[in-house]
Amino acid sequence: MIKIGIIGAGRIGKVHAKSAAGVKGVEIKAIADPFMNAETEAWAKEQDIPNVYTDYHEILNDKEIEVVLICSSTDTHSKISLEAIEAGKHIFCEKPIDHDVNKIKEVMEALKKSNVKYQVGFNRRFDHNFMAAREAVKQGKIGELNVLKVCSRDPGAPPVSYIKVSGGIFLDMTIHDFDMVRFMSGAEVTEVYAMGGVLVDPAIGEAGDIDTAVISMRLDNGALAVIDNCRRATYGYDQRVEAFGSLGQVAIGNDTDSLAVISNADGVTAEKPKLFFLERYMEAYTREVASFIDAVINDKPTEVNVEDGLKPVLIGLAAKLSLAENRPVKIAEIEAKFGL
Ligand SMILES: NC(=O)c1ccc[n+]([C@@H]2O[C@H](COP(=O)([O-])OP(=O)(O)OC[C@H]3O[C@@H](n4cnc5c(N)ncnc54)[C@H](O)[C@@H]3O)[C@@H](O)[C@H]2O)c1
Repeated sequence: MIKIGIIGAGRIGKVHAKSAAGVKGVEIKAIADPFMNAETEAWAKEQDIPNVYTDYHEILNDKEIEVVLICSSTDTHSKISLEAIEAGKHIFCEKPIDHDVNKIKEVMEALKKSNVKYQVGFNRRFDHNFMAAREAVKQGKIGELNVLKVCSRDPGAPPVSYIKVSGGIFLDMTIHDFDMVRFMSGAEVTEVYAMGGVLVDPAIGEAGDIDTAVISMRLDNGALAVIDNCRRATYGYDQRVEAFGSLGQVAIGNDTDSLAVISNADGVTAEKPKLFFLERYMEAYTREVASFIDAVINDKPTEVNVEDGLKPVLIGLAAKLSLAENRPVKIAEIEAKFGL
């Protein structure tokens, strides 16, 4: 039985607790959060998690715990990763590892000197639709990839207080789409040109961010990619991909609660997309944690490693610079700044 500890008992900590509880051979021994309250303690009891702490060091100091899931706020990820590596724990870390590339580099260096498994929470790679589309591209069913289109729109914007600490749309929201571009294409992004606007909420602009973006990219296999983002889609969480190639194309649509289509004198109506990420990706969250535990138990490489955690941050920083200076930015320019 592998004993695990969960650090952070917010939205995603609770999701991953549910996922981990469903994995065979796993026992959740503890959960830690500095803002632990009676409600969360009661929730932990319902999940059969025997130990509840306010200080995550209790988990790191517990020799029986082999695995930690870092689900705390973004600004804690790299620090806790370093401490967990030092303590010899296998680590699943939510995205992003950090907004600061130098701190990600520290985590990479520490990992090189350890035998610790490290996986980053890019859950969409484990979604059944994206997996099927990736498989079609990989098997050459669409020939050579020419154009990849990623559409990613949230149902509504988060509070401005969150926007202020989020690192900006590219490092907070588009980071998943940058990962999708790499995953779907199997190629690396070499150049980025980003345009953005404030079309949803002027307060987001006042906080120094944008809420709508179109990002064009060149990949190292010659293909082109484009992402469109918006913080508001009135009809739900809109996450689609189309890969177009020399022999055809593969596209995935949104998951819906049912496939019912109602046709009557007023028209033809189908279900809206699922509301948001917790509804759309529950199955993917379960699969990503299961995959990580499998890597630990069977000593396999993790499916989303620390490099996969770094690359979308570099692309995000290139997009930020591109938007600020209204010019295409090569990833090499960002890498050079950090001695990569
Ligand atoms: N992969 C995904 O789809 C996905 C979805 C949502 C969030 N996330 C990521 O997960 C992280 C958490 O997001 P969330 O939505 O759950 O936020 P949240 O605010 O609901 O939860 C974060 C929790 O971390 C706790 N925390 C803060 N410092 C801590 C510390 N030192 N030790 C232990 N706990 C600490 C907070 O008290 C809070 O309960 C973020 O980094 C976010 O980017 C990923």
